[in-house]
Amino acid sequence: MTKDDLLALLWQNADSYISGEELAKLLSVSRTAVWKTIGQLREVGYSIESVPNRGYRLLSESDVLSEEGIRRHLRHQELELRVYKTISSTNTVLKSLAAEGAPAGLSLVAGEQTAGRGRMGRSFYSPADSGLYLSLLLRPGMSAVEATRLTACAAVAAAETIEALSGKQAQIKWVNDILVDGRKVCGILTEASVDCENGMMRHVIIGIGVNTHVPKADFPEELKSIAGAAFGAQNIPELRCRLAAGILDALAEYTKTPDAPAVFAGYRRRSLVLGKAVNILSPGKDPVPAEVLDLLEDYSLLVRLPDGSTAKLNSGEVSVRVDDQH
Ligand code: BTN
Repeated sequence: MTKDDLLALLWQNADSYISGEELAKLLSVSRTAVWKTIGQLREVGYSIESVPNRGYRLLSESDVLSEEGIRRHLRHQELELRVYKTISSTNTVLKSLAAEGAPAGLSLVAGEQTAGRGRMGRSFYSPADSGLYLSLLLRPGMSAVEATRLTACAAVAAAETIEALSGKQAQIKWVNDILVDGRKVCGILTEASVDCENGMMRHVIIGIGVNTHVPKADFPEELKSIAGAAFGAQNIPELRCRLAAGILDALAEYTKTPDAPAVFAGYRRRSLVLGKAVNILSPGKDPVPAEVLDLLEDYSLLVRLPDGSTAKLNSGEVSVRVDDQH
């Protein structure tokens, strides 16, 4: 019997009691072996109650992030996983591993980041027990200009996994923020190392951070009006392991064919900005009001400017703020 076998049975009976005797019988081991393994599961963080004459009860809020837990739900078993309780930044650490020659498919998953990074040099708030932070290493053999497609794959992978687990609708705010109920619940940071000789990417690191729940100490003041939790008050067994497995599976699938129509359609269908009045934000410039006319195949936005002319916006240059005033 492994820890996993016992855990699987406890999950099947989550929140209700199952006796040590029954567990021992089902697993063909002694009650002492069950008792010892329960101890090991508690040590890695599972909340398991034991009550005399009733047995053991796994509390469904037990949400321990572990490699075994993720693998139980993962289809793409070829991915190499390294799981951390806490890390500086999954992107930063994976970047060093990539430079040392780590293979494509290596994925770092963490329950907390002490130096999480966001786009445009910002930091990404990554507290413990309320989020999932992961990065996947790819060596896609494509040019740097095509990297936007990989970011789109990540946005669709994260949005659809959040939807599947929460039952709520997720929207994608161009270029790659995921919103649920109007609040940002997930951010994506794609970083690449480019070979200047041929413009091809040596490697790409796709980093995804999901706020699963509201942090114990709430979001910091500056995030309170923007950030939200994808799973609110929902208590889903093994949530972070399922979420990691779902996102990694979808990412592994979509990044095989990033220009597949299904990825574009999945992105477009969830686009928050299509048809909306927005403000174009460029560093060092005043916001420019515009109307979003279309999302083009290269994931640029076609917008109408105040003078009636149209322009194409590329994600690297600008960001947009959805303008509710219009
Ligand atoms: C953003 O919203 O600006 C992007 C946030 C990206 C956060 C993720 S969490 C996992 C990975 N590691 C990091 O340091 N950043 C990304």
